[in-house]
Amino acid sequence: MREGQPSTIYLRDYTPPTYDVLSLELSFDLGEDYTRVNNEAVYQRRDPSTTTLELMGEQLVLISIAINDRVLAPHEYVVSDTGLSLFNFPERAKLTIVTEIYPQKNTSLEGLYQSSGNFCTQCEAQGFRKITYYPDRPDVMTVFTTRITADKVKYPVLLSNGNLVEQGTLADGRHWARWLDPFPKPSYLFALVAGNLLHVEDHYTTTSGRVVVLRIYTEPHNIDKCDHAMQSLKRAMYWDEQRFGLEYDLDIYMIVAVDDFNMGAMENKGLNVFNSKLVFASPETATDFDYISIESVIGHEYFHNWTGNRVTCRDWFQLSLKEGLTVFRDQEFTADLHSRPVERIESVRTLRTSQFAEDASPMAHPIRPSSYMEINNFYTMTVYEKGAEVVRLYQTLLGREGFRKGMDLYFQRHDGQAVTTEDFLAAMADANQVNLSQLQHWYDQAGTPEVTVSLDYDAATQTCTLHLSQTCPPTPEASTKQAFLIPIELGLLASDGREIPLQLQGSTAPAANAMVLRLEQAHQVFSFNHVPEKPVPSLLRNFSAPVRLHFDYTEAELIFLMRHDQDAFNRWDAGQRLAMLTFKRLLSDLSSDEPLGLEHEFVSAWQAVLTDESLDVALRAEALTLPSEADIAEVNRPADPSAIHTVREFVHTTLAKTLRLDFEACYASLQDHGTYQIDAVSMGRRRLRNICLAYLGRLRESSINSLCVKQYADANNMTDSLAALSVLVDIDCPERTKALQHFHDRWQNDTLVMDKWFSLQATSSLPNTLEHVKQLMQHHLFDMRNPNKVRALIGSFTQRNPLHFHAPDGSGYQFLTECVLELNALNPQIASRMVRPLMNWRHYESKPAAFMREQLERIKAHEGLSPDVFEIVSKSLAA
Ligand code: TRP
Ligand code: ZN
Repeated sequence: MREGQPSTIYLRDYTPPTYDVLSLELSFDLGEDYTRVNNEAVYQRRDPSTTTLELMGEQLVLISIAINDRVLAPHEYVVSDTGLSLFNFPERAKLTIVTEIYPQKNTSLEGLYQSSGNFCTQCEAQGFRKITYYPDRPDVMTVFTTRITADKVKYPVLLSNGNLVEQGTLADGRHWARWLDPFPKPSYLFALVAGNLLHVEDHYTTTSGRVVVLRIYTEPHNIDKCDHAMQSLKRAMYWDEQRFGLEYDLDIYMIVAVDDFNMGAMENKGLNVFNSKLVFASPETATDFDYISIESVIGHEYFHNWTGNRVTCRDWFQLSLKEGLTVFRDQEFTADLHSRPVERIESVRTLRTSQFAEDASPMAHPIRPSSYMEINNFYTMTVYEKGAEVVRLYQTLLGREGFRKGMDLYFQRHDGQAVTTEDFLAAMADANQVNLSQLQHWYDQAGTPEVTVSLDYDAATQTCTLHLSQTCPPTPEASTKQAFLIPIELGLLASDGREIPLQLQGSTAPAANAMVLRLEQAHQVFSFNHVPEKPVPSLLRNFSAPVRLHFDYTEAELIFLMRHDQDAFNRWDAGQRLAMLTFKRLLSDLSSDEPLGLEHEFVSAWQAVLTDESLDVALRAEALTLPSEADIAEVNRPADPSAIHTVREFVHTTLAKTLRLDFEACYASLQDHGTYQIDAVSMGRRRLRNICLAYLGRLRESSINSLCVKQYADANNMTDSLAALSVLVDIDCPERTKALQHFHDRWQNDTLVMDKWFSLQATSSLPNTLEHVKQLMQHHLFDMRNPNKVRALIGSFTQRNPLHFHAPDGSGYQFLTECVLELNALNPQIASRMVRPLMNWRHYESKPAAFMREQLERIKAHEGLSPDVFEIVSKSLAA
């Protein structure tokens, strides 16, 4: 809790550690009232100018300290709220510290805590200091030995990082185990688990022939839902060998699933801890989206073994060094295993919806921030998703082979080290003998660059000229920006849809159908020779850089690109642009009281996508998905959420009415019989079919309600039953009530499935939704201490129900404030994530903006506000 204001930490203040840790022996005595931690470490001075050893520690009860077995007197050290200072510490000495902690009372889910009665840890970023006094910073690495003692009946399984080296039973009903992790690691990768767990086991043989034991540990009732996670792990291990030549390095790889977890999962060396929602899957309980997420997060944590663990971060400002790179790797993994264009579209959709908004917010920060108050607030869309886009820039510029050379050199140089993003850039540049220094601006400057393009065509000389310019809006760290290096992949399309060979003026390279331009300056001009007619440009193909690209396309040109662009991403994007133009026009018609109408060309473009059976089903589904209300709000500021809801509903309903027969025919044609499959085609078919059902739902006809009920009843998988239910949830009809009750009764013993039930109701557009959410908070299965429940009910309402969250009377905002204040005392990390929807209050019209601001003020004035929430609200209100 806050004493005065939390202070700001700056990257420029970084100094190397003053002592090294030569070895560390931890010993845990896990109890019901308290846990005793014995920490025996050998420290070796590194900085000759100091004799003070500073250790971090929070919420610890100190029992004793000894140097080389001599117990210290109180005047030999100073204990504060944040750590322990030891004066005149020897050049080299063994330090033994005994402390007590209270995991059963720990609701922050950071440090050592209990979930469903089992012990587990979460140390990243700075949770280790809630376990013991230690130099809890990622550039201090050592070999960990961990001894765990606990009651044998309650906690039969005792796990930590590395290999089990010894175990035994004690006379008093307790037992112990000793684990040794041979790889030096920072404290944030430490993990301990103790509980009543079962495991499934499998094996993987690496390319070089080593056999690795794979285990997934869970509470007994979920043991039958681990198969997909296990298969995903094996696929990830194989993929990293094939694509990057990287093998696993220990004899055992363990994953533990827990119900109470602040994030998705954690890459602790040899002992990953996972949010159970990212492990358990069966066709009846998990959706296609869940299956893909599980595979991708299993991959993500596994890939961290090299990008994060073997090569780690020097300090927390470098977080994107491991996270951006590992997200890039998990995206490539998903793309290689399923559909590359679908993966790309999904990733870009997330980036545009959430990261662009963050980049336009008072919390905007570069992928490598230069300051923070609370590091937990920087596990963001920017550090992760934009960070991955910046890694992708290297691959776009260097090609896959050049990128691989850079990765190889990075590991060759830095294995076993704690490094910076500059080291990564240098390895990429040196391996390819190119100068990439301009890419550094992507690490230091926040904000989404805006690229504006215009095209001239000179028929006489058959020359096509592109004028490109870039700007970047001011963000908290800088008001003026230096030009970014922006790779722009493009093609030029002739009127028959074919690509015109690109012959760049001044270049001797042979003509190619597509190429990557390097935009390096504020303004640049590129001319192409031998262009026989005025082309339609396909710009920023495959989303080659995380920018907003502006080109004055006509609606006809967008429809042309939707049909003909060879780049699947841009075909999709043309449809999104067309929809955005349409929304803009409808919003202006709505505000001037003009009747709303959809142009025939728009409807037939949608019809073409819906009915063209030669197109990939999954891509048709993506194309038929309109930009979200949040997406529309971001580009129509100041936003009026209720007007946006109205026009988006209007487009949906009009399309449903006009294309009803096509939706019905498509729906009928995509019925799958037989067993549930999760390959790209089967998933694409379900997706498209369920989109058809959602459109049809807009007709508000009882026959459609019955169709939903039938699909719900017939479904042999969660994807289809949930899709049917999510159509009904917006319709005030008896079928809705019955189906929700049925779902409740069927799944009330499956906590993960019940999250879907909570979430569904929170996103309903029906008028009494907020009241209903408040009632659901009283449901006996709802629990404020469980982050999944909070995200499912409160998070879904505030982040995925803009209509009701932005209710004109401010009730949605008020509700969020009350939740945030309650969470603040229980779990600051979750409180601080939940408060974020208020952050962009300046993007709304004056009335909602004033209400939102008022709530931020109310939170800021709250006694005992955590640094986590304080940082977000104070930055949101500043400037
Ligand atoms: N490093 C984790 C990842 O794979 C992130 C993470 C998991 C985390 N749990 C956390 C970060 C708790 C902060 C706090 O992305
Ligand atoms: Zn990660």
